[in-house]
Amino acid sequence: MAIIISGKDLAKSKKMKMAEEVKDFAHQYSRVPHLAVILVGEDPGSVSYVRGKEKACIEIGIQNTTIKKPDTIEEEELLTIITLLNEDASVDGILVQLPLPSHIHSERIIQAIRKDKDVDGFHRDNVAALYLKQPGIVSCTPKGILEMLDSISYELEGKRACVIGRSKIVGMPVAKLLLDQNATVTIVHSKTKHIEQVTKEADVVIAAVGKPRFVRADMIKEGAVVIDVGVNRDPLTNKLCGDVDFDQVVSKVSYISKVPGGVGPMTISCLMENTIECFLKHMEEEHD
Ligand code: GUN
Repeated sequence: MAIIISGKDLAKSKKMKMAEEVKDFAHQYSRVPHLAVILVGEDPGSVSYVRGKEKACIEIGIQNTTIKKPDTIEEEELLTIITLLNEDASVDGILVQLPLPSHIHSERIIQAIRKDKDVDGFHRDNVAALYLKQPGIVSCTPKGILEMLDSISYELEGKRACVIGRSKIVGMPVAKLLLDQNATVTIVHSKTKHIEQVTKEADVVIAAVGKPRFVRADMIKEGAVVIDVGVNRDPLTNKLCGDVDFDQVVSKVSYISKVPGGVGPMTISCLMENTIECFLKHMEEEHD
């Protein structure tokens, strides 16, 4: 029977450690890290993510400002808010919750965030740093996934990894991080023929496709490690479900993560970590 990799438990212990660190910062620097989150509109998924981020900030002692705007906001106004946050020395991290309404150019908004406040790791300089193996901010979900694999001391070197999905936010960067650990990585996507032939060869499968229960047991090799990044609504029950048919797959694999309680909490704890990283960099610069 598979062992469940609990992102929830891992994130909890990470958050406890960070809370201790932040207490020390308050003494050492007379201020704590500060994360600003911009939420446009009322998409239920986005509202729930932002609430999760606020809760984590409270637990750790990170200062949080959430700016809520209606989905009719003009791009220029959003850019003005980002400029103000960029210039505000009391703000360490800026996150614009995605997706944005279709009349707004998301890329223009994301790239307007100062790279040293880009806690999502979406700025082109941070993306470039990842691909060039240089220091930079690594985006939260891919970072969290690698930490989940590390938590089971999984040796990636020489293993076959299959990433399902090629998004800029998850598929592409997680593939690069797996490659950096010397795994042999294949990315499959909507245009791949016979996806199951590739997934069946994989020792590690990262499912980031955004389709409820897309990964079935017959697509997975016996004893594989499966990480489920999906956050979907079950079309029948409307309950939260992943990209993996957990009930089918669990009896076949060695390790598996669940939805909810898997990658989601790790993404949030990595966001908190990135906020602390930006804060420490700002403190260093202040004291130079
Ligand atoms: N929406 C879904 N995932 C993410 C994420 O990682 N960052 C942001 N900013 N928005 C998201």
